[in-house]
Amino acid sequence: MTLLAIETSCDETSVAVVRDGKVLSNTVSSQIKLHAEYGGVVPELAAREHLRNLVPVTRAALQAAQLQPDQLDAVAATQGPGLPAALLVGFKAAQAFAFALKKPFLGIHHHEAHLYSPWIRNAEHHLGSEEADQTGRDGTRRSGFGTADFSSFQPNMSLIVSGGHTLLVLVESELKHRVLGSTTDDAAGECFDKTGKLMGLPYPAGPEMDRLSESGNPKAYDFPRPLLSDASDDFSFSGLKTSVRYFVRDHPDLLKEMQPVRDLCASVQAAIVEVLVAKTIRAAKRTGVRCVTASGGVTCNRTLRRELARACEKEAFTLRLAERELCTDNAAMIGILAERKLLAGIKPTSFDEEIKPGWVLE
Ligand code: KG4
Ligand code: ZN
Repeated sequence: MTLLAIETSCDETSVAVVRDGKVLSNTVSSQIKLHAEYGGVVPELAAREHLRNLVPVTRAALQAAQLQPDQLDAVAATQGPGLPAALLVGFKAAQAFAFALKKPFLGIHHHEAHLYSPWIRNAEHHLGSEEADQTGRDGTRRSGFGTADFSSFQPNMSLIVSGGHTLLVLVESELKHRVLGSTTDDAAGECFDKTGKLMGLPYPAGPEMDRLSESGNPKAYDFPRPLLSDASDDFSFSGLKTSVRYFVRDHPDLLKEMQPVRDLCASVQAAIVEVLVAKTIRAAKRTGVRCVTASGGVTCNRTLRRELARACEKEAFTLRLAERELCTDNAAMIGILAERKLLAGIKPTSFDEEIKPGWVLE
């Protein structure tokens, strides 16, 4: 089956073409630079950018896959959750495309797609953090040729950590999952971004905190590990943010030099990572699964990747981390899940259906 997928739930316009579990192309146009000026994603601007970019990004994805629209068997798009105006652009365009092609259409839950992105492997190249050489002059990233490796699928504990969400999900089998916990307030990425902002770092602060932390001392300052010993699988990060706010207020001179800032970044990051890793491993042990997966923008974080690897090694768990370029939002994961669903006999989504901005994964 050859399928085109569109993702526009937040600030990334992405279109992918998948065929029989292979990602033939995955084109992503990120709006990070546009929103950085405002210190966060501006929904109206995001929607306008999606409108501007969707056709060229779709063309680029088809061209990279060396396909014509009439060779597609189905079209999919993110139906929710996400920013309403942003979702509308990709979802309605995908419905119209499918309608015109007389092909089935499938609306996909963005987080359900994240659950399967760790199973997609880049067969031809590992981009790592060196994505620059894959970025076109227009800022569009092109990649592809990954394969969804479901032959090695195992029941797993899946951590989804992004700027908007922190979820712990038990994936019992393919297409069968149960959400065990989520954040009661701020998401992990939001905590990185907001505490980084308090230190004067530009938006989004997560990647910069990751970079600065590499030469910082994670034990320099002691911050709370919220809900670490709580019995639930939920997370909470707003208390940590508040304690960083007071700390910065009470030590204003600290931000005047680089080393204390690096130490502060490393200390805050250590608190976030310890909670994420400890609760994920604990939930895996409790439920008896022997595999951990992680995806979402924060999964790019080097300390999180290292600590998850260390903890999984200790427990002899298999660890599947989404490749860096598939951690952040992308249409490849939407396409891979949509294809699996259609092959599993799940019926297409009606052309009358609307976006579901507040769709909660269950
Ligand atoms: O998944 P994503 O691209 O977008 C959504 O929020 O849906 O995630 C973006 C989030 C931001 O909060 C960003 O600061 C964080 O992921 N992030 C990181 C790193 N790279 C991205 N946080 C910590 N360390 C990183 N290396
Ligand atoms: Zn996402």
